[in-house]
Amino acid sequence: MGAADHVALGAGFLIIRPLAAEEAPLLASHVAALSPASRHSRFLGGVNLISEAEALRLVAGRDVFALAAIAGGPGEGVMVGEAICAFGSDGRAEFALSVADAWQGRGIGRALVASLARRAAPRAALIHGEVLAGNRRMLALAARAGFAAGVSRSDPRLVAISRPLRPVPAACRPLHRAA
Ligand SMILES: CC(C)(COP(=O)(O)OP(=O)(O)OC[C@H]1O[C@@H](n2cnc3c(N)ncnc32)[C@H](O)[C@@H]1OP(=O)(O)O)[C@@H](O)C(=O)NCCC(=O)NCCS
Repeated sequence: MGAADHVALGAGFLIIRPLAAEEAPLLASHVAALSPASRHSRFLGGVNLISEAEALRLVAGRDVFALAAIAGGPGEGVMVGEAICAFGSDGRAEFALSVADAWQGRGIGRALVASLARRAAPRAALIHGEVLAGNRRMLALAARAGFAAGVSRSDPRLVAISRPLRPVPAACRPLHRAA
């Protein structure tokens, strides 16, 4: 899923890169270290831990990739965020992410979404996710990143967010007639 992105973060920088299979335990421990409130938001109130076996599936599976956000210099970096993207057979990519509590509100979520969308674009026409209706920070991030939001069909507690990953050719756009 490509090379690392280097993103300015305050006086330092952030590296966003795919996790290697042997790093799967890092994903599980990042999730386990989130506050209960962040885990509730990340997993929409459902299962809120990732086992090492599940982490390995997310990191090394065929139709899925996992990104890590690493803060600090080479060799001394600390994992401060994760994002998962799963490809469906319908040309859509589903995503979810989390940022370590102490690192939230500094632009890491925004950088993860941008990196994930760019990496998903060659394989999917649309990216989508679900967010708890009360998750104002994630909804603000999604709106700024160009996602449309609507009520989820599966659960009224959730907001469905989506964004095309490729420009729709003019010939395929729906026609709107003036009234
Ligand atoms: C949601 C989450 C991923 C966002 O990551 P983050 O690094 O904290 O977010 P950012 O710093 O990139 O900020 C994103 C936007 O939130 C907005 N924001 C920040 N604080 C906010 C607040 N208290 N209320 C509303 N909006 C807020 C800002 O507008 C910001 O947009 P901008 O950078 O364009 O100004 C992170 O807070 C998190 O891990 N939360 C718990 C798990 C979760 O909710 N995951 C999403 C489920 S899909």
